[in-house]
Amino acid sequence: MPGRIEGAVAVITGGAGGIGEGTARRFVAEGARCVVADIQDDAGARVAGEIGGLDVHYGVKHAARVMKRQGSGVILNTTSTAGVRPGLGPHVYTAAKHAVVGLTQSVAPELGRYGIRVNAIAPGGTVTGMTAYVTTGDAANLEEAQTKVGRTAPLGRPGAVADVANAVLYLASDDAAYVSGAVLVVDGAAEVIGDRAGRFTDMDASLVREAGRRLSPGGAISS
Ligand SMILES: NC(=O)c1ccc[n+]([C@@H]2O[C@H](COP(=O)([O-])OP(=O)(O)OC[C@H]3O[C@@H](n4cnc5c(N)ncnc54)[C@H](O)[C@@H]3O)[C@@H](O)[C@H]2O)c1
Repeated sequence: MPGRIEGAVAVITGGAGGIGEGTARRFVAEGARCVVADIQDDAGARVAGEIGGLDVHYGVKHAARVMKRQGSGVILNTTSTAGVRPGLGPHVYTAAKHAVVGLTQSVAPELGRYGIRVNAIAPGGTVTGMTAYVTTGDAANLEEAQTKVGRTAPLGRPGAVADVANAVLYLASDDAAYVSGAVLVVDGAAEVIGDRAGRFTDMDASLVREAGRRLSPGGAISS
């Protein structure tokens, strides 16, 4: 049976580790050929060797130019829940990830006429070397990171690389043929709406009902 992105050529930056590596492995399993672009040459070569016959390059500068010529393509940018909500990371990370969202949504309509879709993926806490490092000080300590990142997760566990790779696969596939300029949050309801949802469910149900009963037809709460 053909894969979901059979024959596609994907360039995956940061493909030597974490989410990028997981995505490269999944893409190859779904029939794509991948370019693993990473600053870690050896790790990139290892991943490429393991998943078979891939190229390993530094970054890609002219993806849109190539896609315009062929009249199709999908660009996926990696933002974060910190890119759609403040306070989830250092200021500079928040600013950079918000910029990724802005760029995605600015470019998407421009490239649409060339058949190119542009979307962003916004993972929440996902167990990788990066989260292991920031939660334990040791990028290899995935086990402790799993516990720490998942401690308050509504779904009872933190995000896994495969969760993000699955969402990336969807956006890259024809299943998302009319999805462009979107930011797909993959956080198990933990971060983007988590706090707000928590505040609502923590409310006293009888007071919520009382407030509703006192709501005037005009929408304001009467005294
Ligand atoms: N892990 C999370 O919880 C999480 C949450 C939200 C967003 N993200 C985002 O997902 C992306 C991947 O994060 P991760 O957790 O997999 O990190 P990671 O550290 O596990 O892997 C990142 C990979 O990117 C490579 N890399 C770093 N700088 C690069 C560059 N300039 N060019 C090419 N490759 C480069 C690294 O060598 C490494 O292989 C990042 O953009 C991160 O901000 C991660």
